[in-house]
Amino acid sequence: MFVTVLLLLVALSARGGHSEETEEAQRPGHVSVIIVGATGDLAKKYLWQGFFQLYVNQVSRGNTFFFHGGGLSPADKGTPVLFEALKAVSCSKDVSQERCAVLKDQFLRLSQYRQLKTLEDYQELAKHIEQQLQEEGMTEAGRLFYLSVPAFAYADIAEKINSSCRPTSGAWLRVVLEKPFGHDFRSAQLLASHLGNSLKDEEMYRIDHYLGKQVVSKILPFRIENREFLDPIWNKHYIERIEIVVKETLDVTGRIPFYDQYGVIRDVLQNHLTEVMTLLTMKLPKNVSSSEEILQNKLQIFSSLLPLAKNQAVIGQYQAYKSEVQQELNKTKDHVSLTPTFAAVLAHIDETQYEGVPILLTSGKMLDERVGYARILFKNDMFCLQKHNGIHCKPKQIVFYFGHGDLQYPAILVSKNLFKPALIDSDWKEVTEHTDVSVLGLSISDYYVQTPTEQREAYAELISHIFAGRKNSFISTENLLASWSLWTPLLSSLASSFPRIYPGGVDNGGLLDVRLKGRDISYNSEVVIITPDQMGGTSANDFQVMQGKFRSADMVSAWAEELVERLAVDIQEAAEAAVRESGVFHLALSGGATPLALFHRLVLHHFSFPWRDTHVWMVDERCVPLTELESNFHSMHDHLLQHVRIPYYNIHPMPVQLNQRLCVEEDRGALQYEKELSKWVNGSSLHFVLLGVGYDGHTASLFPGSKVSEHGESLVALTESPIKPHQRMSLTFNAINRAHRVALLVMGKGKHELITQLSRVKDNLDKYPVTGVKPDHGTLVWYIDYDALLG
Ligand code: BG6
Repeated sequence: MFVTVLLLLVALSARGGHSEETEEAQRPGHVSVIIVGATGDLAKKYLWQGFFQLYVNQVSRGNTFFFHGGGLSPADKGTPVLFEALKAVSCSKDVSQERCAVLKDQFLRLSQYRQLKTLEDYQELAKHIEQQLQEEGMTEAGRLFYLSVPAFAYADIAEKINSSCRPTSGAWLRVVLEKPFGHDFRSAQLLASHLGNSLKDEEMYRIDHYLGKQVVSKILPFRIENREFLDPIWNKHYIERIEIVVKETLDVTGRIPFYDQYGVIRDVLQNHLTEVMTLLTMKLPKNVSSSEEILQNKLQIFSSLLPLAKNQAVIGQYQAYKSEVQQELNKTKDHVSLTPTFAAVLAHIDETQYEGVPILLTSGKMLDERVGYARILFKNDMFCLQKHNGIHCKPKQIVFYFGHGDLQYPAILVSKNLFKPALIDSDWKEVTEHTDVSVLGLSISDYYVQTPTEQREAYAELISHIFAGRKNSFISTENLLASWSLWTPLLSSLASSFPRIYPGGVDNGGLLDVRLKGRDISYNSEVVIITPDQMGGTSANDFQVMQGKFRSADMVSAWAEELVERLAVDIQEAAEAAVRESGVFHLALSGGATPLALFHRLVLHHFSFPWRDTHVWMVDERCVPLTELESNFHSMHDHLLQHVRIPYYNIHPMPVQLNQRLCVEEDRGALQYEKELSKWVNGSSLHFVLLGVGYDGHTASLFPGSKVSEHGESLVALTESPIKPHQRMSLTFNAINRAHRVALLVMGKGKHELITQLSRVKDNLDKYPVTGVKPDHGTLVWYIDYDALLG
């Protein structure tokens, strides 16, 4: 009896509600809503609020409701938790406080916790519903099950619903499911077929909450409403490219057991971004209220999408992810996860209309800002000679702005140099008063902007669509499988790819910028990940290191600690190989502060290094007594040589002090060192030369303007430094470029500017001596830490 009374009470007090839900005619009557997983996070955060809104909007239209909050816990445990969630629901702004209190009170009294675990529990539930219907003498309109539980439980629950909870004839059954809907094509197909044993396709409502976002749900209406303007330009002749972007600032801590299995492509691209892409590119339906036609047109786009190959994607992983995985999954320090937390994928549609139009889908965690949008950028053939800032010279674009970011509210923006769009909906308004903000390169005042009058949560929106039976706001089995068949081959081809490691937040700088070239996409800065295999199968941590090109030579880049580790490993490998081949390893080391970290690392692992067969040479020396702190040898001795088991006759300090004087030409110290080198080192070709580069571009003790050409054939020379101590002894380019392997180690933010310059300049020995490092037959590798590379 109480349900009827409540209905009357609420019918008197409920607000007008939205007109949308009346679209699909359905018989009014009693609706049982059953949330399975009613005390979980999603339910607490969005579902109860969404159902409360549904209740408020619908109850005045002749429907009655009862809400069953189901969970695994027994009623005495679940009830108080549910009560807390229910208390938190709120009314929209236009409902007065008094009315809101009444509505909330009714809602609370119409909601009840119940344990839903066993088949008997579901049978009990069915009995309860039937009893209610009988007692109240009500016609049943339908039963809505919302499964807010992990996907592995779906098939079992669906079976229980099918066997014991189907509604009386004439009433509908709707079962709502949350992603993930599988992990790839096969698992999605398997899940679909299991569900298909219990539920009909029309009974399944697969949620993609992006379809409930106000802006996303208006993409089709906007395209239809503005057909007259859009028809001529919605094609390859006018569209430069389409970008669908969801950037997030948060990490995935707390969700890693789930996330590590999925990664960003499965979590966001396969569903949310793909849905937006289909809405933007599908053929417009003849009948906008035909769910079937809309779903069919969407499906058609899937069949026109060109397959996605490996070269159409780049992936990344934020730096801290590795340790978060180790912690949350209880893994050892060696554990490596290849799960991407960032991806950019380039899609193309094989239809005359969109031929060659790049569609970029990108999303990631730990990026610089939280923002989501789809942007159609049009070609602009205007050349403005004088007023570059004139409206016709500005980007032409339509932006479906999902929210957050600089604008902070959902909106549809059309550049004023395109057309003035019609207002799509009476629930939307034009924004004319702007704060000074710019959106995707255009000031807000250069756009026509429209936004919803009231912001609604995606879940609330979708719950109203479930109630209205609007299937086109959900993912049909056919569409789901079509999407997986697009993404699965790409996911397989990327399965063993190493993601680019990015530091997170604004520190990412330009590291994740991508370049689109034909059908390919690549990171703009030329760095690729090297796998442990490629680097000779060393430690599992190796993937934190990236390899690419710098000044046409190989480059290895990483955070300082990892970079030093990599360099140490490379030196050791070179040492072992040389000792294997010739019984000896000739290593030349530079002075200065940069190599100190490397020396420490070599000391730490000195037992495994073939020091006994290693000869240490000096790249350069300052003309000071060896006992002085400024002496490179002194520093090398203190930080390295005295700690490793190297025979003292294998150590070759530069003879800067002869006849009790420093670097006097007549004493021929340079020649002496050259002779020593020629005597010990086969062909004077050192196995490994470690160099640094100074702020002024000098390397070894070869300084700008130091006329290196005058060194002729000599291997060692006395040189001049612009800074004290001015006199130096140095290997010449002739000696350096004979080496089998040269490493140029550059570290620290202070070197960023230099690195930027060096990345652009041509060889210029006079200005940037380091550009003269070009081994004749050997290899050069730049070791640049992220600070120096990215600034
Ligand atoms: C969810 C993903 O589906 O979408 C999350 O699982 C992601 O990882 C979220 O954060 C993004 O949604 P929104 O609405 O915050 O843009």
